[in-house]
Amino acid sequence: MGVVQAGLAAAKRRVARVRSSPTTLDRVDYEQAWDDYAKMWRNRNPKLAHIGDEWTGERAGAAKTVAEYCQLIESRFIEPYISQDDSVMEIGVGGGKTSALLKKHCSDLTCCDISAEMLKATRERIGDDGVRYVKLDGIKLSGVRSGSMDVVFCFDTMVHMEPRDIFNYLTQVPRLTRSKRICVFHHGNTLSELGWKRFLSEWDRNLMGRSGGSFSVMTIELMARFLDHLDYEVVLKDTESIPRDCVWAVRAPG
Ligand SMILES: C[S@@+](CC[C@H](N)C(=O)[O-])C[C@H]1O[C@@H](n2cnc3c(N)ncnc32)[C@H](O)[C@@H]1O
Repeated sequence: MGVVQAGLAAAKRRVARVRSSPTTLDRVDYEQAWDDYAKMWRNRNPKLAHIGDEWTGERAGAAKTVAEYCQLIESRFIEPYISQDDSVMEIGVGGGKTSALLKKHCSDLTCCDISAEMLKATRERIGDDGVRYVKLDGIKLSGVRSGSMDVVFCFDTMVHMEPRDIFNYLTQVPRLTRSKRICVFHHGNTLSELGWKRFLSEWDRNLMGRSGGSFSVMTIELMARFLDHLDYEVVLKDTESIPRDCVWAVRAPG
């Protein structure tokens, strides 16, 4: 290898190292992490149809295939809580796997995400008919009218969010809701057997800051405290359907 080629190879290795490490000590860069994920997805998954087909729920102990996982989400967490005349907001849409299920069951869907690339992928999958797309900045749930949502749904997204960022969204959700004010929130539980396994698999790649795509350290007790503090009423606390995690159906305070 010539000197120039060796120099280029070393530079590439440096860039790869930087990309796979947390970029700052004071900020989890969810936006960059998920934009990058969406951009690299096709090369990494040449045989799959949509972003999200790789999230089968297997490592969460919930399902063996993406079809089985979708069936579980639809039958346990969508059908019981969403009806055809509901306005629904989803926070964190990925490639639209859950959005496609939600769209079948509601009147209109607002897809919110911190990643413009993920919103683009979801739009390609489920289109514009009865669907709005809102780019979030990670702090404010802006771009959604106050008192306009019957249901707020957040699946496979809080598993990646820092507890404080989850709490921050929870403080803002009630203002957006109306009438039945149902929210379905799914988050990780580091203290479950599978949650602990996940923690052990990535703790050393997330020291002094972390990548936006890693799992957060989160527990059921902490979520219970958040919900109680903010006056949400618990309708369901499900720790069995997805054994690694916890799914809540709650009523936002009026
Ligand atoms: C694993 S995907 C889940 C997608 C989808 N809900 C599903 O079930 O397939 C996580 C999504 O959450 C988004 N996300 C991550 N952090 C976020 C944040 N703080 N606010 C809003 N969206 C976020 C990512 O951009 C990504 O699209």
